[in-house]
Amino acid sequence: MSFDFTSVLDRRGHDAIAFDGIGAASGAPMAPDAGFDPIPMWVADMCFPVAPCITRAISERLEHPAFGYFSPRPEYFNAIVDWHRHRHGIDDLKFRCIGYENGVLGGLISTVTAFAAPGDAVLVHSPTYIGFTKSLENAGFRIELSPLILDEKGVYRMDYEDMDRRLSASRAHVAVFCSPHNPTGRVWERWEIERALEVYAAHECVVVSDEIWSDIVRPDAVHVPVQSVSEDARRRTVALYALSKTFNLAGLVGSYHVIYDDYLRDRVRAQASKSHYNAMNVLSMHVLIGAYSDEGETWVNELNEVIAGNTERAVAFFAERAPGVSTRVPEGTYMLWLDAAGWCREQGCDVGELLRAGWRVGVGWQDGRPFHGESHIRMNLALPRTRLDEALDRLAKHVF
Ligand SMILES: Cc1ncc(COP(=O)(O)O)c(C=O)c1O
Repeated sequence: MSFDFTSVLDRRGHDAIAFDGIGAASGAPMAPDAGFDPIPMWVADMCFPVAPCITRAISERLEHPAFGYFSPRPEYFNAIVDWHRHRHGIDDLKFRCIGYENGVLGGLISTVTAFAAPGDAVLVHSPTYIGFTKSLENAGFRIELSPLILDEKGVYRMDYEDMDRRLSASRAHVAVFCSPHNPTGRVWERWEIERALEVYAAHECVVVSDEIWSDIVRPDAVHVPVQSVSEDARRRTVALYALSKTFNLAGLVGSYHVIYDDYLRDRVRAQASKSHYNAMNVLSMHVLIGAYSDEGETWVNELNEVIAGNTERAVAFFAERAPGVSTRVPEGTYMLWLDAAGWCREQGCDVGELLRAGWRVGVGWQDGRPFHGESHIRMNLALPRTRLDEALDRLAKHVF
């Protein structure tokens, strides 16, 4: 590895909910018992130092001591165009289709409010990223959940008949598609996306495709951008991207949309403009230019190898040591989605007790129930191998 994925960062007191929220924030793991230090495995950020091209981009910009009003540079748009060409094979992305978003969830809400009114239904798959639930409910929408179903190999798949039925019954005309999928880690295959888009098209849905995880995929998996599957998909989809997962930059804020259709784009931008809050930060612009570079790409490729190794290690651990806990290696994201139903049945406990047993020894895994996983746990594996091994060791000795 040419980059650092092994140093153990002590982020306590350094603006990190993942660390400082333990025992304090709502939905956070409990503080561990005396003698155990916390190993945060909940919030979706990573415990690796960022790529050097990012800190370099910030320090170079800081050398010019003025930070007034500005317009995004052409290099910003060029960097996005080049990144999508290299990583996703998109060769016709134009500057005018790219637009800044303060957050992916902000882009989601701008789109939903542009094409539906509070009280209307929005189709979302379950299990569901909790941010979708919170932001849609907060904005007054009804969430119509279409459950993913496990196939005979234990792979989560969409249930197209169910989606079709729910879209008919709820009269929803906006659908949220998460690709790669948080929390299951699915990287959807092209045929799966095509079939989903056929269902959305049959119900005249605008599709919000959250592709925030598109760069975090196993070395043997391929992310297929939703807009690339057909002309119709390109026309009806608002795709949302960010550096926050790829390069661990949530604290710097800075997402963007790709919208090819003029009408869709005008409506979303008009909606976003109403709040007057959707404005880029000059440092985050320079960070994007620095990150979407050859060096940034090499860093992400190495990161994906590290995550693949961590997920394989963790999955092997649960298979050997935790009877009744089922999981599989995710194709994307750095989240492991565990179903502890069998274990809980066998032990006569509920998943809350299992979670707390881990929390007591510092394993800061996350309750899957707010993600609509009844007996599930979400576990963040973007941490140095020594910390992962320590967490698994504690689970082996004290929990399973
Ligand atoms: C699927 C998904 N979408 C959006 C977000 C949050 O994005 P943002 O911070 O840009 O709103 C997350 C964060 O974990 C996520 O997993």
